[in-house]
Amino acid sequence: MLEAKQPSGGGSAAATEPGHHAAAPVDFQQFWKNAWRPSHDVGSYRMTRVEGEIPRELHGTLYRNGPSQNIKPTEGFAAMHLFEGDALIHAFRFDDGRVDYTGRFVENPTHLAEKRLGRVIGGLGESNHEPDDLGEVVMRQQPNTNVVYHGGKLLALVENAWPFEIDARDLSPIGTNDFQGRMLGMSTTAHPKIDRKTGQMIIHGYQPFEPYAQYYELDADGICTVAEPLDFPYVGMCHDMAITENYAIIPLGAITLHGEKLMSGEATVDECLRWEPDKGIRFALRPRGAGGDIRWFQAPAGYMFHPGNAYEEDGKIFMDACVYEDGGQLIEGLRLFRQGRGVGLRAVPYLYEFDLTTGECKATKLDDRGAEFPRLDDRLVGYKNRFGYAWRQDYAADAPKIYEIMKYDRQGGLSTAHDFGAWQWPGEAVFVPRTPTSDEDDGFLLCTVYDGTTDGSYLAVLDARNMADEPLAKVHLEHRIPLGFHGNFAGAVV
Ligand SMILES: [Fe+2]
Repeated sequence: MLEAKQPSGGGSAAATEPGHHAAAPVDFQQFWKNAWRPSHDVGSYRMTRVEGEIPRELHGTLYRNGPSQNIKPTEGFAAMHLFEGDALIHAFRFDDGRVDYTGRFVENPTHLAEKRLGRVIGGLGESNHEPDDLGEVVMRQQPNTNVVYHGGKLLALVENAWPFEIDARDLSPIGTNDFQGRMLGMSTTAHPKIDRKTGQMIIHGYQPFEPYAQYYELDADGICTVAEPLDFPYVGMCHDMAITENYAIIPLGAITLHGEKLMSGEATVDECLRWEPDKGIRFALRPRGAGGDIRWFQAPAGYMFHPGNAYEEDGKIFMDACVYEDGGQLIEGLRLFRQGRGVGLRAVPYLYEFDLTTGECKATKLDDRGAEFPRLDDRLVGYKNRFGYAWRQDYAADAPKIYEIMKYDRQGGLSTAHDFGAWQWPGEAVFVPRTPTSDEDDGFLLCTVYDGTTDGSYLAVLDARNMADEPLAKVHLEHRIPLGFHGNFAGAVV
């Protein structure tokens, strides 16, 4: 484990006192800002600085996505909302025990317009005020949230735009994917679900005008087979969804979206979000396939960005999720996040049980400790899984060791944590099976980590079955990359 020291750029007197213990109060805010600040695309290079050994079974490409910023805003990157920033894609190509890196911005119309104008064209929802010729840009769209490989296409995703396809090898732009002209709304979310048994991709969209939500199915070749509006009573921030063998589950949380002023350019997305706990959480359970009618289930108030997994068993549907119990605090935390002031922002794991016979929904909190970015063995999305992985966020101003990667076991509860040490901030962990037919949990967890002691980044490879152990490999980047949101492993691309 690395010895804790002051993160670069920090200014805490307490932490610089000789002999002062690392767990004493330090400039946590600076660490946070450092971890998320933007970097540029640097092209490609072989990652030669390796601690440990990269497993030779790893064969394919890990893609990561997250917000960076090519043109710096005058007020500074930290003043921007967490959701803003150019999509910067990182590709880590594993082959024969080596890793090659490629980093490139998604060169979509918004990115190119800002590059041409030499300035930021406004916050989300503000671009209608711009007098400049923005070409085809009508709203700032930055596909910075997720990157998914499906049907032979690599898609960069954000929930206020249609998917933007990029080349799987060099990450160069290909163009917007409109599902063969079948789009029913202004956007799709960044969180499709892929059913590995059928090869289908299920995804929804939402928008601040009718139809409030839309539902799509694509076959294994990426051809859209179902495109239908969803009958929602109002619209909220519907970031993610879950699937089971027979259903799609779309949570409509108690953070509502009031988009009248958003579309006219009079308000930002942040100003249009409202915490309305009286609404509770509504879950839309829609049978997969064409023509399915929604069945609504109701749970106590909260907000979830991310369900974990869902599956059917004995006439019920079980779904776990990372839930923010106070959505007002969440909205505030998102606004202040880039300034390192989103400290109160924390989700906790819940299990929801939908009884298809009675229509009842039972909500159970699984742990008081924080959990976000839930993942599982992707082969089991929509089917009963035993293990789940998540990022723990437990904030304490005097404790630098607050981010861990957790493993949850449905048989017996919480099982294991991996602690990366002081001033280390891991991102979302992606599970890759050792071989295509390996058992669940027999494989690797891949995550990029920000190292606050060196102001650098590395890719960690953990043995999922022994995840508390030292990483099998730490593969160091030659440059720091900002902590991002989501990514996926594509075994088909090397
Ligand atoms: Fe997300």
